[in-house]
Formats: sequence, structure tokens, C-alpha cells
Amino acid sequence: MHVAFSIILLVIVQVYSQSPAWNIFVNEDDVKFYLYNRENHLEPILITKNNLNALESNKSVKLVIHGFFENARRDWYKNMTREYLKKDDFNIIQVDWSKPASSGYSISAGNTKYVGIIIGKLISELSKNQKLPLKNVHIIGHSLGAHVAGYAGKEVIRQMKSPIGRITALDAAAPLFEGTVDILVGLEKGDAEIVDAIHTDGGFFGRKNAIGTVDFFPNGGTAPQPGCSIRSLKFPPRNYVEVASEVFCSHTRSYHYFISSINNENFVATKCESWKYFTQNKCGESHTALMGDDYFYQEDTTGKFFLKTNSEFSYAYD
Ligand SMILES: *[C@@H]1O[C@H](CO)[C@@H](O)[C@H](O)[C@H]1NC(C)=O
Ligand SMILES: *[C@@H]1O[C@H](CO)[C@@H](O)[C@H](O)[C@H]1NC(C)=O
Repeated sequence: MHVAFSIILLVIVQVYSQSPAWNIFVNEDDVKFYLYNRENHLEPILITKNNLNALESNKSVKLVIHGFFENARRDWYKNMTREYLKKDDFNIIQVDWSKPASSGYSISAGNTKYVGIIIGKLISELSKNQKLPLKNVHIIGHSLGAHVAGYAGKEVIRQMKSPIGRITALDAAAPLFEGTVDILVGLEKGDAEIVDAIHTDGGFFGRKNAIGTVDFFPNGGTAPQPGCSIRSLKFPPRNYVEVASEVFCSHTRSYHYFISSINNENFVATKCESWKYFTQNKCGESHTALMGDDYFYQEDTTGKFFLKTNSEFSYAYD
């Protein structure tokens, strides 16, 4: 069988195997922090304990965390960084935790806690030594990265007695965190002042249930998202790249929508009880909220929100 296809099968088997999550010790060196800003947008600065002052604490921090089997060289990291630096001169911190994210799924899922603690320590140091206001820290995590973000938030609260400003959960991982084998805690609502979650593959790779201050369910929050086909594994697969993009299409839509939202206020969502009521126009008072980077917290922008999207970039529905 082709290698790429075997890896995909392995990932699926791994994700759905019910082996316990071992608490493997994660070294601080296994978590790398690459800093970008408008001045250093081509070559990042590797942040360590010894150069914390490379970060300009008068600028907000966007800290991005990838998921299972990923690393900092992914296209979506580049695209998100590019869109943010177009918007403003942020401190963009790309986290690379590829080593602890590349063990079996259950080990990687167990590692999220230890990786999160290392990130939480760094943020606490930046707050103590560089006077970085915690409210200006926004973590964006995809899949297992959303749970890493949760543990980072918990560690900051433990050390600083005060939360970071915001965590955005891009299709937070479900296996071992939700369902009959939910043996890991992961991201919780209280881990930041605001937790906004975007659900795109609920009930499969992503969490189905609301977990945030606000939860967005584009197209109902489940697969297939528009432009993604129904997940089907046919033997023999014709084209391996196609199979991979099919399997992960809805799960990765969460970061595509988010990247698109950074410089466009185009995802207007409506507060509603359920997707069914939303599609039947039965949402009662029409409270709306923007999904994505420009989400604005108010009393009536909390709870569950629904919207439709398009199948192609910019994905905005009109
Ligand atoms: C932010 O801080 C840097 C030094 O860390 C300084 O050069 C810059 O002028 C400051 N910018 C603002 C807007 O205060
Ligand atoms: C990144 O941006 C390029 C150029 O706009 C686009 O072709 C590509 O699909 C994007 N990929 C991701 C993963 O965002």
C-alpha cells in the first residue's frame, strides 16, 4: 500500500484506538517558539528564556498552536501569520510541538497537558519580566492544539491568579476528550477570559458539544463542510492526496475560515438553539456575532451561533 495512504489509515486507527493516554515527560526543548513581527516577517526569532525581550510587550500577542502530527512549517501557519501582519504589527508566536505531537495519538493527546504547561510558563514569564498584559494574549489552537491552549491557560491562572485574554479553539479535538472515553480534561471555558470555539467536524475529529464562552457552528458544525465531500475510503484509493484532503477536509475548514476572517468581517452568525431551528428560521430574537478574529464579547454574543459558508475562499456566504 502507498505510504501516504498507510499513514492516513494509521492516524485514523490511532485516533480511534482506546488505549490510555500515557503521561510521557515532555522536555522544554521539545516546544519551540518562533516569533514573527512586521520587522521580522521572513526570518523568525527563536524565543528562549534568554531573549524574552525580543518580544515587544506593547504589542498584542497571537500565539498559534498546531495539532496532531503537524509542525510549524505548515501552510496554514504561514497564511495566518501573513494575514495577521497585514492587519497589525502583532507579536506572532508560532509554536512547534511536533515531537510530542508525533507519538501515537493517545500519547500525543496526553502530552497536550505538559506542552501547555511549558507554554503557560513562558506567558507567565513574559507577564512578570516583560510587563506583557495578560489580556493582550490570544492563543489560537487547532485540534489537539486547542487543548494545549487550554492547559496553557490553566497554568497561567495557577501562576498569575489571572487569565489570559482569549483562546480560540479551531475544531478542538474530540477523541479521548469527548464521548465514552473522555478521560482527558483539555480545554474548558474558564481557561481564558473569553473562549471562542469554531466547530467544523463535530462528532468525528472535532468536538461536537459547546465548550466555549461562545461556540460557532458553521453549516451545523459537522462534516461534510461545503466543498468537502462525504468521507469515504474506497479501496484501492485512486489518488492519495485526494484521500487525505477528503479525510481531513472538514476538520481543517476551521482554520481556513479563521484565516479568512482576519481581514474580512464576513462571517456573521446568528444565535440559535440548534442548526435545525436555524435552517427553519426559528431563532427568536436575532442576536448576531462575528465568527473569527473580530469576534467581540458582549452579553448577547455568548452561547451557540450558526451560519452558512461558501465552498471556496473566502468562504463567506452571500
Ligand atoms: C513599543 O516598544 C518598543 C521597544 O520595545 C519601542 O521601540 C516602540 O516605540 C514602542 N511602541 C509604542 C507604540 O509604544
Ligand atoms: C495559503 O495561501 C495560499 C495563497 O493565498 C493558498 O493558495 C493556500 O490554499 C492557503 N493554504 C492554507 C492552508 O491556508
